[in-house]
Amino acid sequence: MTYVPAADRYDRMKYNRCGRSGLQLPAISLGLWHNFGGIDAYENGLAMVRRAFDLGITHFDLANNYGPPPGSAEETFSRMLATDLGNHRDELIVSNKAGYRMWPGPYGEWGSRKYVIASADQSLKRTGLEYFDIFYSHRFDPDTPLEETMMALDTLVRQGKALYVGISSYSADKTAEAATILKELGTPCLIHQPSYSMLNRWVEDELLGVLEEMGIGSIAFSPLAQGMLTDKYLSGIPDDSRAASDTGSLKRGMLTDDALAKIHGLNEIAQGRGQTLAQMALAWVLRDEHVTSVLIGASRVSQIEDSVGALERLDFTMEELAEIDKFATESEINLWARSSEND
Ligand SMILES: NC(=O)c1ccc[n+]([C@@H]2O[C@H](COP(=O)([O-])OP(=O)(O)OC[C@H]3O[C@@H](n4cnc5c(N)ncnc54)[C@H](OP(=O)(O)O)[C@@H]3O)[C@@H](O)[C@H]2O)c1
Repeated sequence: MTYVPAADRYDRMKYNRCGRSGLQLPAISLGLWHNFGGIDAYENGLAMVRRAFDLGITHFDLANNYGPPPGSAEETFSRMLATDLGNHRDELIVSNKAGYRMWPGPYGEWGSRKYVIASADQSLKRTGLEYFDIFYSHRFDPDTPLEETMMALDTLVRQGKALYVGISSYSADKTAEAATILKELGTPCLIHQPSYSMLNRWVEDELLGVLEEMGIGSIAFSPLAQGMLTDKYLSGIPDDSRAASDTGSLKRGMLTDDALAKIHGLNEIAQGRGQTLAQMALAWVLRDEHVTSVLIGASRVSQIEDSVGALERLDFTMEELAEIDKFATESEINLWARSSEND
């Protein structure tokens, strides 16, 4: 049956300006890292994308390597565009990235001009799109001059293959350097995509300050700490969870006693606010005015509905924030969550 999007899809979503740009992003965006690969049930993914769009989620995030197998999430999204969303292309913000291993040999990963441009071309083919709205350097490459990677992003814009560019998981210092180079090239850095959640607060040290100073927006990935900041793991590891899956990036070992104690403490605060833990976790990341959007993942439609419910209560009292700070502190899992090597 032909998909007709909900007529009221723009009524409840909040749209935030991305840094000092003209672009607004939905406060909640959907990523296709897990559950949209070739191994996953297509109908479930389609139902999630439809529901997301019906709820006002206009931004869908991809990367060349999302799957498994790598590249297959782009192919999945291409099918959805062909049957459902393609007629609404101008209502969508589709992002993509290059940085992680995609093909063998020295040109199959990192940040060389050779790799970034070839990868973007492959991604356009796999998705069937003429351009990406945002194209990211997925990770900083210590062995390639930053100028080269940024010039490759600038080239993609000049070739009409990307409208805006961004960087992901770059440190505060490298972000400042990259944004300065991009500005000189005439292609401003629109957005930074870092990990950020109540269990992983590295961005607060310096990065958010750099983004403010340079007028760059941000979209926080894994704001639910891959599902840890939900009620899912409160009493064990369900069989149908990411932590139980062989292909998921959340490992059982990350659910340490320390992490679980924090999750239980935070869950009580969420209940006191009349929210699910997932809703409070998203509202908490969005409390910072430098955060343009939270980039969630989902394995079923009901999770997207629950997460969008966060918008009903975004405010926090000083007392609530202080109480949250007792549990939302640095812990050993942050050593993992800070790194983008898992992506
Ligand atoms: N730039 C980068 O390097 C990078 C790295 C990682 C991710 N990302 C982006 O960020 C996106 C989101 O990452 P993520 O999937 O780790 O985000 P997340 O929102 O922290 O975790 C999503 C997972 O949490 C569980 N979940 C979600 N909503 C729930 C709810 N309301 N109640 C209970 N459980 C819920 C589901 O796990 P179950 O499967 O267990 O149900 C879901 O798959 C990715 O798709 C990708 O676009 C980018």
